[in-house]
Amino acid sequence: MPFITFEGVEGSGKSTQLARAAVKLRETGREVFDTREPGGTAIGRKIREILMDVSHAHLDPAAEWLLLEADRRQHVVEAIRPALARGVFVLCDRYSDSTTAYQAAGRGLDAEGVEFVDAIARDGLAPDLTLLYDVMPGEGLARARSRDGGTGRFEAADAAFHERVRLAYLEIARRRPERVRVLPAAGTPDEVFRSTWAALTRAFPL
Ligand code: TMP
Repeated sequence: MPFITFEGVEGSGKSTQLARAAVKLRETGREVFDTREPGGTAIGRKIREILMDVSHAHLDPAAEWLLLEADRRQHVVEAIRPALARGVFVLCDRYSDSTTAYQAAGRGLDAEGVEFVDAIARDGLAPDLTLLYDVMPGEGLARARSRDGGTGRFEAADAAFHERVRLAYLEIARRRPERVRVLPAAGTPDEVFRSTWAALTRAFPL
């Protein structure tokens, strides 16, 4: 069964789109496992707390990365692979492309090293489809701030960081056109959902 990931910069609207896609897939009679990274397991939720805690401004970039990979490994082994084996649709809010964009491009960690360790963390499991919600980082951050104050540790990074993240995502899409669909995400949630649903049903006719 399909493994579909939702990616984008802060405030891109990907989580709203994932929630809507889950509802609509269930309405069509599909069983859906909707999950996220970091924090898709009980152990992962503890890791997420460490990662998101704004008092951890001094968290070392490589330590941050390895915590994300630990979260991913546990998530794949404990939750994602078993769900795929049960034959359900797996919708995951962020996955390895987030690490390429945020830790390699954003934080400046060695891209080959990140790729090597990430392949171990995800146990070789790649998404069948990735929906990349593309907005200008400034617009996304403004949305994120109006939603939750935008006080997260990642949201606090400077504008150049978020610009590198966006460009890295677009580069992944350019390199992996068979897997990644770029969906312009500046419109209303209803408008964007039309693209979400079109991309899903094109890839997996229902
Ligand atoms: P969220 O707000 O979309 O749930 O994501 C939590 C934060 O974690 C977000 O700011 C991006 C960050 N993140 C990374 O930096 N690398 C990763 O691999 C993942 C999964 C998330």
